[in-house]
Amino acid sequence: MGGTRPYRQTASGAWAASRPEYLLHFFEGLDLARFRLFVDLGSGDGVACCLAGLFTRVIGIESDYFLASQAQRAARALELRERVSFICADFLTQTIQRADCLYIYPDKPLDAVEKVLGDWNGHLLVYGPHFPPKRLELQKKLKLGMETMSVYSYRRGGDGPTREKGK
Ligand SMILES: C[S@@+](CC[C@H](N)C(=O)[O-])C[C@H]1O[C@@H](n2cnc3c(N)ncnc32)[C@H](O)[C@@H]1O
Repeated sequence: MGGTRPYRQTASGAWAASRPEYLLHFFEGLDLARFRLFVDLGSGDGVACCLAGLFTRVIGIESDYFLASQAQRAARALELRERVSFICADFLTQTIQRADCLYIYPDKPLDAVEKVLGDWNGHLLVYGPHFPPKRLELQKKLKLGMETMSVYSYRRGGDGPTREKGK
């Protein structure tokens, strides 16, 4: 179809929206319903949250008040308010480790996110190829056309010291 996709600067970065037709394909492929809580880090106008709300409980965190208000309106119009809510805040100040699934369409490197996560035991979904995490390990890469979504988590047990037999 072509056309210009929405884009603008916000106080904490840059806003561009995930493409819902691709996201739906990725979320279905991942069986998103198996997650208890999906949190979008920098939720923009709420498009990813509203889609994720078809599968599970969702919180979007966005620092830009105008975008967070638009997102809230969209969730209301789609009658998703029971499953999808929004917080206008810096996601680095929130207890994002509560989520078992974090989603981000990053506008900058993920070092600060990884620092906040510590040894969190969930799955991080990263839309697009530009800012892969450094400490989390790639588990799966989904691709459709030119769009990608990568799934990361901390590998459990793989890096620990080897126990001697009998100890
Ligand atoms: C590329 S957009 C992605 C929007 C949405 N997640 C989506 O997939 O359509 C990144 C968004 O993250 C927001 N953002 C960046 N850093 C943030 C922070 N520390 N706390 C809250 N929002 C942040 C920006 O304002 C922007 O709206």
